[in-house]
Amino acid sequence: MKILGFAGSTSSKSINKKLVSFTLDQISDSSLETELIDLNDYKLPMFNVDVEEKDGYPDNAYKFLEKLNEADALIVSMAEHNNSYAAEVKNLLDWCSRIELGFFGEKPMLLMSTSPGGYGGGNVLEASKQRFPKFKADIIRTFKLPSFNDNFSEDHGITDEENRSEHSKALNQFLDHLSK
Ligand SMILES: Cc1cc2nc3c(=O)[nH]c(=O)nc-3n(C[C@H](O)[C@H](O)[C@H](O)COP(=O)(O)O)c2cc1C
Repeated sequence: MKILGFAGSTSSKSINKKLVSFTLDQISDSSLETELIDLNDYKLPMFNVDVEEKDGYPDNAYKFLEKLNEADALIVSMAEHNNSYAAEVKNLLDWCSRIELGFFGEKPMLLMSTSPGGYGGGNVLEASKQRFPKFKADIIRTFKLPSFNDNFSEDHGITDEENRSEHSKALNQFLDHLSK
């Protein structure tokens, strides 16, 4: 079984990517293959119906969908910009939705967010929780890590005990679901 992870961010220093990477590192079951991808490898023109009509769908949108299709389950952490998706990520979602509305393909998803703020990206998490089922994501658990800079270290991952335990519970429930 393959678990694909990605952050809903194209920042080279993405804290959400760090959270996804930490999460994948916690998976010790050797029967589970994990892969972390970077949305910078799937750059797309800005979506516009005229561009769509003129040029069709970009190769990178198909390349991203192929990655999703190869996976059995998804671990995603969304960056929050002005209470919602980061623009490049919204753009990717828009392109994908035009090719196949249900592009998450009923795959189980652990959906997360983090931000330097005290709400941990809770607004984009909520927006994603509302919308991703339309894209046929099967959201099994959610987790948000508030105040990333206080609660996460490069060497140890989530340092705050309560958040670490909450994260571990969410991940284990997600993995239990996969093993059923
Ligand atoms: C344009 C912009 C808007 C932002 N808006 C929010 C916000 O609404 N809520 C929040 O918690 N953080 C906000 N932030 C801070 C981001 O959460 C922070 O940059 C975080 O590192 C983004 O995640 P990433 O590092 O994975 O890209 C914003 C940052 C930018 C650049």
